[in-house]
Amino acid sequence: MTATQKSIVFIMAIVAVVGGLTFLSTLEPPPNRPNNAEHRLKLNIKGELIGIGSDRPPQILPKKQMEAWVNQRCISCHGLPPTRDIPYQDAPKMLPEHHPPKNTCIKCHRAE
Ligand code: HEC
Ligand code: HEC
Repeated sequence: MTATQKSIVFIMAIVAVVGGLTFLSTLEPPPNRPNNAEHRLKLNIKGELIGIGSDRPPQILPKKQMEAWVNQRCISCHGLPPTRDIPYQDAPKMLPEHHPPKNTCIKCHRAE
């Protein structure tokens, strides 16, 4: 590559990075969960997650499974996030159409 070609590649790389950051900064932050009984995560005395609202799993689960169980509760009311395999119109009840395709609800949506 000549020096000119190198600087063109360099400038294109900068443009891509700046463009990417600009795009990311326009995305909305995840809205908080409403501060009501059905959205309240329940913790035990040790601060471990044990349920949501008045819902509890049939038995105590390890942390990761517990989180998955709670996220499943979110999905039962809000519907599945859209993915390539599940087109939007077949899935969500209350999720926006361009919602991130992820099942880890409580990682993004914090309590109010
Ligand atoms: C029992 C059904 C139910 C469950 C379970 C539930 N939600 Fe909701 N959620 C609702 C309803 C109904 C609303 C809208 C009414 C309101 O604002 O209270 C709502 C509102 C929300 C909103 C706010 C939407 C807005 O307009 O700002 C977020 C975010 C949300 N839920 C996320 C979650 C997450 C994350 C979970 C799991 C931890 C969850 N929800 C579990 C029924 C549920
Ligand atoms: C990667 C972070 C992320 C994850 C994981 C995530 N969300 Fe969201 N959620 C968002 C963002 C960002 C928005 C706002 C996007 C928009 O309005 O298009 C949003 C919007 C919502 C809304 C609509 C709020 C409103 O004001 O109308 C609900 C309800 C919701 N999410 C529930 C869920 C549920 C249920 C799950 C788990 C299946 C989940 N989210 C997982 C980031 C996330």
